[in-house]
Amino acid sequence: MVLSRIRRCELLLLIFTGLCKPFSQSNMCSGIIENYVAAMVLSGAGDALGYNNGDWEFCEKGSEIHAELAELGGIESIDVEKWIVSDDTVMHIATAEALVEAGKSIEPSHLYPLLAKKYKECMEDMQGRAPGPTCLNNCDLLQPEIPDGWVIPFHKAAGGCGAAMRAMCIGLRFPRPEQQKDLIRISIESGRMTHHHPTGYLGSLAAALFTSYALNRKPTHEWGKELLDVLPLAKEYVKSAGRDVSQNMNAWSYFEEQWRSYLGKRGILNGTSLPIFPEQYDVKKRDEFYASVSYSGWGGSSGHDAPMIAYDAILGSGDNWTELTHRAFFHGGDSDSTAAIAAAWFGSMYGFKGVHKANYKKLEYRERLENLGKDLYYLV
Ligand code: AR6
Ligand code: MG
Repeated sequence: MVLSRIRRCELLLLIFTGLCKPFSQSNMCSGIIENYVAAMVLSGAGDALGYNNGDWEFCEKGSEIHAELAELGGIESIDVEKWIVSDDTVMHIATAEALVEAGKSIEPSHLYPLLAKKYKECMEDMQGRAPGPTCLNNCDLLQPEIPDGWVIPFHKAAGGCGAAMRAMCIGLRFPRPEQQKDLIRISIESGRMTHHHPTGYLGSLAAALFTSYALNRKPTHEWGKELLDVLPLAKEYVKSAGRDVSQNMNAWSYFEEQWRSYLGKRGILNGTSLPIFPEQYDVKKRDEFYASVSYSGWGGSSGHDAPMIAYDAILGSGDNWTELTHRAFFHGGDSDSTAAIAAAWFGSMYGFKGVHKANYKKLEYRERLENLGKDLYYLV
């Protein structure tokens, strides 16, 4: 009797530790399996919703999108069955598949050719998904079958969000503080396989890093300051990797300056204060703000501002899915990419809590995304 009670306790403990892996260096929890699945699936759902078969990604007025959304019955009524995922999700799947296939062998000679192969191959699945020109052109340059065929040259116009939108799963794979070096290295190198410009690949770093913070339930107002603290480590890595160093260093400051300026506006540069939003921050004001932090007027289309707008939405929405969709998915900028990133962070923190089932149940590639979430969970 006593023995069987002990066995039951052991069993419960085993189940608990299997679902929730405590950090060796802290009491924090690196996420349960639902968070992994939700991060992958909701990211795809966010992409499909923000994209709306191309109609909403390229609509320049958030107010028009919100009016159409209201006509459709609001976010809770949207069944994504016929809303295909865009390039963002196809490339996110490619990153995740490479990480899963690589397993524990994450050394450059094994993982990087795999990533390059997946990126190149996924371009076959871009019909109707509006891939970005930098992704398209540079995947074409990749030669995964030859040594160093994953290396492409620096390019001054490779600051788009195409590297950031596909990197969240890197944070799922490397969520622990002691894995941060790998997170930095792999987010940068996978990013610069198509976006060899700091504004592009640091977007990849931010998307991955914040996913790891989300899994660890780090309070959201701390994330921005922590990113600034990680940037010197990223810089050291890029210098030590030794490829096109002077060009990278010359272009380095933009990303950091933009983030510093944004965090100052929200009053969270110190990492301890809570964010301050303008009193009036409706759809129109948000559109104006998103455009104001952008590179060329299209909010969220670059490596610095796609994660920034996603972060702004996460800060302002808490665990409210509907509010997150209003802020991160439906605006006049590059809405599918900011949606894909924000939704991955939401899933990493809150799972499917409060998410309308119709928004993801019949999502294209849902099963693939679910399985990748599970595979990544078991790899960590
Ligand atoms: N710094 C900041 N932004 C830049 C820079 C720079 N140096 N150079 C270009 N941009 P694009 P992608 C901006 O179009 O990254 C899909 O539709 C430039 O203003 O090459 O390959 C996804 O859903 C441009 O508007 O795309 C995403 O929307 C922007 O980077 C997109 O493609 C995007 O660069 C991502 O793919
Ligand atoms: Mg897209």
